[in-house]
Amino acid sequence: MNFHVLTLFPEMINDGVNTSITGRAISKGLISVNAVNIRDFAGNKYGQVDDYPYGGGAGMVMQPGPVYRSYESIKEKIGYKPRVIYLTPQGKVFNQSMAEEFAEEKDLVFLCGHYEGIDERVLEMIVTDNVSIGDYVLTGGELPSMVMIDAISRLVPGVLNNDVSAEFESFNDNLLEYPQYTRPAEFMGKEVPPILLSGNHPKVDEWRRQQSILRTMERRPDLIKDANLTSADKKYIRSLEEND
Ligand code: ADE
Repeated sequence: MNFHVLTLFPEMINDGVNTSITGRAISKGLISVNAVNIRDFAGNKYGQVDDYPYGGGAGMVMQPGPVYRSYESIKEKIGYKPRVIYLTPQGKVFNQSMAEEFAEEKDLVFLCGHYEGIDERVLEMIVTDNVSIGDYVLTGGELPSMVMIDAISRLVPGVLNNDVSAEFESFNDNLLEYPQYTRPAEFMGKEVPPILLSGNHPKVDEWRRQQSILRTMERRPDLIKDANLTSADKKYIRSLEEND
């Protein structure tokens, strides 16, 4: 899977993705991250890429030409029109299902804005998806694009060491992950739940499932309505409600 990031701060992207699991995935050739400097497409000797907004107002607006030419350079390189994600607080809020959908693509282009935004005309011409990473305003699209690259990469086969872990974790099936424990069995007087030391795997699975449900109900009750609950799950929920 190839990520192309159109940005005025390519070093920020390169510094961010070349470590940890994404860094290893890049070394293994499972993903590539190509940070393209929009300024290289300025088309003037000063490297100017922004100008004052028509109609007045604070700040500067990124000009359409450099953005368009940087996009064209990628389109020409890969030989087709890729999906182009514009990172903006005005977009659809990113979630795990969107990560799964984007992970199906061969190439993804991320367009990072700065200053007061990007000239609307070029957005209309090239952007296929407007995406926000949450209801707050950041200084640019670089961190959001790295957040998305991280979430999408880990769904690419081989990127995580163990294939199962992408399957059984938070947000799979709209349930939060169960709590995890490791040695020591007792830490500062707090013990690991005894069932986990029992060796009874069906009981462990049942306990974990119930912990997932309990956690989701306590921490993210908005998710539970979209979870795929079995009749045993529903019975467990009823028993919780009866004890309330
Ligand atoms: N750019 C600025 N704020 C953003 C946000 N919350 N999500 C995506 N892109 C942004």
